[in-house]
Amino acid sequence: MRPLLVQPASCLKGEVRLLGDKSIAHRAVILSAITPDKTVIKNFPNNQDCFFTIEAFKKLGIKIIPLNKSGSAIAVFGKGLWGLKKSRSPIFLGESGTTFRLLVGLLAAQGFSSCLTADESLSRRPMLRVIRPLRMMGAKIKAKGKRQKAKVEEYPPVKIEGAALKGITYRMPVASAQVKSAILLAGLYAQGSTQIIEPVKTRDHSERMLKLFKAGLKLHQNKIVIKGNRELVSPKMIYIPADISSASFFVVLATLLPDSRLLIKDVSLNPSRLGLIKALKRMGAQIQVASRTSHIAGSEPIGDIIIKSSKLKGITVKKQEIPALIDELPILMVAASLACGRSLFKGIEELRAKETDRIRSMSQNLKAMGARISILRRSTRESMEIKGVPSLSGAKVKSFGDHRTAMSMVIAGLLAQSPTFIDDLNCINKSFPDFLALLKKLVR
Ligand code: S3P
Repeated sequence: MRPLLVQPASCLKGEVRLLGDKSIAHRAVILSAITPDKTVIKNFPNNQDCFFTIEAFKKLGIKIIPLNKSGSAIAVFGKGLWGLKKSRSPIFLGESGTTFRLLVGLLAAQGFSSCLTADESLSRRPMLRVIRPLRMMGAKIKAKGKRQKAKVEEYPPVKIEGAALKGITYRMPVASAQVKSAILLAGLYAQGSTQIIEPVKTRDHSERMLKLFKAGLKLHQNKIVIKGNRELVSPKMIYIPADISSASFFVVLATLLPDSRLLIKDVSLNPSRLGLIKALKRMGAQIQVASRTSHIAGSEPIGDIIIKSSKLKGITVKKQEIPALIDELPILMVAASLACGRSLFKGIEELRAKETDRIRSMSQNLKAMGARISILRRSTRESMEIKGVPSLSGAKVKSFGDHRTAMSMVIAGLLAQSPTFIDDLNCINKSFPDFLALLKKLVR
C-alpha cells in the first residue's frame, strides 16, 4: 500500500518532457521482434506494462538489451516473421491488457502453442472480443468461459494452439484498437488478405507502425486491408514521442490552477489520441499545439503543447468522439466537475471494462469531494452527466487499484480546497512511475 495525503496547490509552472507513449512502445517492440534485423527504440517508457512486453518477447526467444542505465533506449534483435520460439513456461503479462490482446493475435498464427496468464485485475477483463474474430480466421484458442447474465464471456488464462490462419473480412462490433491490432497481427501471417472495418476510427498506431515496417497495408477511411506472409523491414531506429495520456493530467491541472503556464515537449500529436485536447479547447481552455515536421525517426506526429490557466464551461462529448479520449475520460471528469454548467459524456460504457470500472471509481470518488454526477442508462448505452461546482473539497478517496483513477484523483486533490487522502498509489507504476516526482517539481 502506498497512501498519499494531497495538499491543495496554488499554481503550476515550467516545462516537462515525458517518457514515450505506452501504446506505441508495445507495438514498436512487437514489430521489431518479428523483423529480421536489429531495431533501436528510443524514449522507451520504464513502466510495468512495457516491462511485461519486453519480458514476453525474451521468453519467445528474442534478445532485447537496454542501451543505457535507465532503459529508455533498447535494442531488439528481431528474428523475422517466423523466428519466434515456443516459450518454455506460461507467459505472465501482469495487468497489461494491450500486450495480452495483441499477443493473442500474434501467437494464434505461430507454429507452436502458448499460454498467456494475467494478474487478478486483467483476469477479469473480457477476451472474447479478440478471440472470436481470430477463431473465424482458423485460430485454436481456449480461454476461461463464464456465463455473465445472458451472455457467455471468456477470460484469461488463454491457451493458444498455433494454427494456419486464413484472411477474413471482419466488421468490428466494438470500437477497440486492441481488437483491431490483434487481428492485424494475425493478418500478417494469414493466407490471403484480411479486411477490418471499424465502427468508429480508433487509435491508429498499429497501422502507422506496420507501414513504417513496410507491411502490405492499405487504408480506406474506416477499412484496413493487410496482406499476409510478407517479411517486414526494420526502420532501424524508432523514437517514441511522449505519451499524450500521461500528459493529460498535467494539461488539466495547468488549465484549472490559476496563474499557471506549462510547456510539454515532444509529445505525440496523433489525431486519433487528441480527443482530450479538442474537448478542453471546446470548454474554453487555452492550449496551443505546435506540431513539428520532425527529423525524428518514426511514424507518429510530434510537437509541443503550451497550456495556460483558463475558466472552463461544460460541453457534450458524442459517442463517436469517445475512442479518441477513452483513457482520458477520468481526468476529463475532474475538469467537468469544476467547469461552469453541465457536461454530458455519451456512450462511455467501455469504461466499465478497463482496469477497474472507471464509471464507478470516478463517480464515487468525485461525489465524495462534492461533485454532482449522474449516470444515465439506455439499454447497454451509458452516459455521464456532470453539473459543475465552484470548488471540490478534500475527502478520503480510493484508487481502486487503477492507475488512471489514481492519477486523476491526485489532480482532483491538488485542485481541491482542503487535503485529500488517497488509499494506494502503487498502481501508478503501470503507466507512469515518475508521475509524483514530476508533479513535485512543477507544482507550487
Ligand atoms: C489501447 C487501446 C485502448 C486503450 C488502452 C490502450 C491500445 O483499449 O484504452 O489503454 O494500445 O491499443 P481498447 O482497445 O480496449 O479501447
